[in-house]
Amino acid sequence: MARKIVAGNWKMNLTLQDGVKLIDALNHMKAPEGVELIVFPSHMLVPEINRLSNGIEVGVQNFSEHTEGAYTGETSLDQVKSCGVEVALIGHSERRQIFGESHEVLKMKVNHALAEDVNFVFCCGEPLEIREAGSEYAFVKAQLEESLFHIPDVNMSNTVIAYEPVWAIGTGRTATAQQAEEMHANIRKWVAEVYGEDVAKDVTILYGGSCKPGNANELFAGANVDGGLIGGASLSAESFMEIARSF
Ligand code: 13P
Repeated sequence: MARKIVAGNWKMNLTLQDGVKLIDALNHMKAPEGVELIVFPSHMLVPEINRLSNGIEVGVQNFSEHTEGAYTGETSLDQVKSCGVEVALIGHSERRQIFGESHEVLKMKVNHALAEDVNFVFCCGEPLEIREAGSEYAFVKAQLEESLFHIPDVNMSNTVIAYEPVWAIGTGRTATAQQAEEMHANIRKWVAEVYGEDVAKDVTILYGGSCKPGNANELFAGANVDGGLIGGASLSAESFMEIARSF
């Protein structure tokens, strides 16, 4: 069975003081049963937020594909693990588009995470021009094939995939529940083609892109939508928790 997850990607927002207030507010709210909550603060905030968090998992938004050494400004998985963190985002569209992370680099990060026993949320999703050209399925399938579908079965069942159409990120323009469900159903089908139905059933597929309290319920109603990766709306404890209660 796929897990139900609602994750907040804080991106490059919040000072340490703001982050502490947010995790403190979340700690004082009742989380829904059966839904795992994760937050992904900026690296600088991670150790303190992780120390203060009560029941909410804390992950990193990014890590280096290299093990250690002369990579100024980068953070290794060893360093991530030494802060007690065991989950990371890989391949967010902002990493792909702004920082030029290629299929090859993302594949290296996936392999590095597996070797270091760190769980990950693998992000995929098409830009607007690809959707307008009607090529979104081929595009997303290629992202998965190039960087993810080489991993062993045993790791795939534990994998979380986040579908985030780039045109819906931070734009207020959400994919319709039908558009999200159609892509998620395809992602599960492609996983099944490579790994079989049993593995495909276990893979958790999150939707991300302008997901808010007002639309989460409809989006999460999709049979293949197992939760959300939330950007802007995760910066408020109330709206993040309301989304988590939307199942
Ligand atoms: P928004 O929810 O702000 O559109 O961001 C989505 C996202 O990119 C989460 O990773």
